[in-house]
Amino acid sequence: MASLLQTTSRTWAEVEQMLASGDVQGKLAKEDLPTPALCVDLDALNGNIQRMATYARDHGRALRPHGKSHKCSQIAHLTLQAGAAGACSAKLGEAEAFAAAGIDSILVTTPMVGRHRIERAVRLASRISDLILVLDHAQNADDLNAAAAAAGVQLHVALDLNVTNRTGVAPGADAIALAEHVARLPHLTLKGIQAYAGHASHVIGFAERAASSLEAMAPAIATRRALEAKGIPCPWLSGASTGTYNIDGEMDGLTELQPGSYLFMDLDYDRIGGPTGDRFDDFANSLTVLSTVYSMPGREQAILDAGLKAFATDMPFPPVVKGIEGAVYSFAGDEHARLDVRRSSLPVALGDRLELVIPHCDPTVNLYDRIFATRGQQVEAVWRIDARGMST
Ligand SMILES: Cc1ncc(COP(=O)(O)O)c(C=O)c1O
Repeated sequence: MASLLQTTSRTWAEVEQMLASGDVQGKLAKEDLPTPALCVDLDALNGNIQRMATYARDHGRALRPHGKSHKCSQIAHLTLQAGAAGACSAKLGEAEAFAAAGIDSILVTTPMVGRHRIERAVRLASRISDLILVLDHAQNADDLNAAAAAAGVQLHVALDLNVTNRTGVAPGADAIALAEHVARLPHLTLKGIQAYAGHASHVIGFAERAASSLEAMAPAIATRRALEAKGIPCPWLSGASTGTYNIDGEMDGLTELQPGSYLFMDLDYDRIGGPTGDRFDDFANSLTVLSTVYSMPGREQAILDAGLKAFATDMPFPPVVKGIEGAVYSFAGDEHARLDVRRSSLPVALGDRLELVIPHCDPTVNLYDRIFATRGQQVEAVWRIDARGMST
């Protein structure tokens, strides 16, 4: 009977040492990793980074990839090396982690309401050259201005426009009144507008998605023009998602793209469809969870070590096994999954390593402390997910 131990000649203590120090290049293979393990395929990731960067460059848009997807400053740095203008973060905690890793232009895409956020935001603004905060209320603008005055800093702010029935001031008259208010506050500098039409990002069918996003974004573009017409400079309008990058990116008036999921892709995005087919394949699935078959109760099913705690479970469809057709995954508890292998295109045996494509990338990444950057079967790097859990 074949051994179920991994093939490396190193002891586990040596592997642990390498994983802890990050000194893995040329030394470790995927089969050496403890599972469940979050892995990113470097060729696919770099391809995604380059494709979006090329699109933005060719269309004269700045690119500020959203860090809420990867939560990993090393990935943010890869996007900066490919020409990104900076990073987005959803929460201030993520921005603090990115700033600690040397990223100095960060847009925080949610409002800074509450004392803990405002004090930390002002502190962060005094540390990095370009922290951009969004706001949607005059009282919040006053609070930020007062905190900035007390600390002696100038805050860069943008109007958060409500184009998706979430946060944000209404486009048009309300937004213009808020911009006029901000323009009177000496410690705030108005950079422009953020308008993220999140509801359009996953609309299935390219034409339907384009119609949804155009309808949502038109008032944002009109608001920008109206501000300029009133003599309130508005040189910046940031928005778009992975699903709408090449829709919003064609709009006259949008200056910056802020997609995030394109770096990894997931099953939820695969199914939205592109201009020429049912599958949205502009970007490749780079992210997987590596799992081990650790029980085979009979010939028809295999039990995996990646269950509910290994994936975000908000989607109505389960993970999919990469490279094997017909093996059907279902959750079998917190730590377990069941794989129905009756129609599997390949045999599955105890100890096998299987890679699972992820239903929803952002909340899945947030379950892991580190991500293994792989090329083929080799592990090239171990990256800390340094903004993991930074949700305040
Ligand atoms: C404000 C904002 N901008 C951009 C994005 C990126 O969207 P996606 O990951 O779909 O590309 C998100 C994602 O939720 C977001 O909340």
